[in-house]
Amino acid sequence: MEMKDKIDIAGVGRHIGESVTFGCWLTRRRSSGKIQFLQLRDGTGFIQGVLVKEEVSEQVWEEASRLTQESSLYVTGVVREDPRSPSGFELSVTGVEIIQISHDYPITPKEHGVDFLMDNRHLWLRAPRQRAILRIRAQIISAIQGFFDQRGFTLVDPPILTPSSAEGTTELFHIKYFDEDAYLTQSGQLYMEAAAMALGKVYSFGPTFRAEKSKTRRHLIEFWMIEPEMAFVDHEESLRVQEQFVSHVVSCVLESCKPELETLGRDVAALERVKPPFPRITYDEAIVMLKELGMELPWGEDFGAPHETALAEKFDRPMFITHYPSAIKAFYMKPDPNRPDVVLCADMIAPEGYGEIVGGSQRIDDPALLEERFKEHELSQEAYQWYLDLRRYGTVPHSGFGLGLERTVAWICGLDHVRETIAFPRMLYRLYP
Ligand code: 4AD
Ligand code: MG
Repeated sequence: MEMKDKIDIAGVGRHIGESVTFGCWLTRRRSSGKIQFLQLRDGTGFIQGVLVKEEVSEQVWEEASRLTQESSLYVTGVVREDPRSPSGFELSVTGVEIIQISHDYPITPKEHGVDFLMDNRHLWLRAPRQRAILRIRAQIISAIQGFFDQRGFTLVDPPILTPSSAEGTTELFHIKYFDEDAYLTQSGQLYMEAAAMALGKVYSFGPTFRAEKSKTRRHLIEFWMIEPEMAFVDHEESLRVQEQFVSHVVSCVLESCKPELETLGRDVAALERVKPPFPRITYDEAIVMLKELGMELPWGEDFGAPHETALAEKFDRPMFITHYPSAIKAFYMKPDPNRPDVVLCADMIAPEGYGEIVGGSQRIDDPALLEERFKEHELSQEAYQWYLDLRRYGTVPHSGFGLGLERTVAWICGLDHVRETIAFPRMLYRLYP
């Protein structure tokens, strides 16, 4: 079979009435004795193949009869329009060339437990639902890059192996770097600050790691983060970028991924409401609202998932919680000049119980204050000399944020767990496959 002769299922609409050939897998076969129905997929789409016994050769009929779930084949047939089928097309099969008959495919149409499916993640990816999620994830990534590329941001790649921490020392993955100690990056932010001083507006997109012993539906050990960093941009301006950014991503998915959202049964009305401006409340206001909801919390404590969910339920789109107490936030956040016990920061909380998807802040630009923070947080002055240099040589106000890709995918797809948002999730008790 020559490559040039083959088409993709996604492209069958351009070949109505023509004879075409494509490589595919069989997902299911039904036979009435006189007619066989083959459910076929090639990764780009799905189509039903139909064989009428009286109309095909005995050999083609026999070959089709041998096909089992996940057998691979080249199929030839004539494309017909069929308004009743989900794809809009059907294939009148005239030829079947078996590549391999598959035996005992582990994932059958019956219900399987999540652990079993995760053990077979390498095969589970073939399911229409998993395919739809990965397609949406790819579209989200493309929308993210499009947003920043069109606005004069430069993509910069921070290192993955780092000598020190960016987001606190308790969640670091330690590794040996020859004779030195090194850590897998928790966030590229500190490096992106250096890049912003060189290129003005920058963003990174890469894997980050948290050795967090959290086993929740929102936590991964390895997750992908988008981290924009902007020179001469204050907290307020950064919030405006964030709401435009997230709205852009959602609208791109609504535009480009209709069939995938439908496969997932996603309520798109909730997504259509995602438009700026996003509501904002301060940490102080959140504490008051929580008290009214019967979830009293002493001032100074951090919110947990139930608090975030309860607050988000008050709004119909993503919302910001701003001005957290500095004691519960990272060392680099700039204190509010009017009220130094809180910082110029915000978490963006997704609606529908998906929790924090963005964390961001204005950064400390005063070298003396930064040095003070190193002491308070017991961070080695030596390890952060380069970071201090950014405040020594032409310091400027600057802000940035990090969007967690998997939580964003979970929210946009309407999934109950982040484990399905990435092809091979790394979780507390899962490193295989
Ligand atoms: O709030 P975080 O820890 O912020 C930072 O790392 C900053 N340095 C970002 C910056 O300002 N450049 O993480 C940012 C986002 C969170 O809002 C969340 O969406 C996601 O990253 N995230 C996780 N996603 C999955 N699993 C985890 N364990 C996550 N931890 C954070
Ligand atoms: Mg955070």
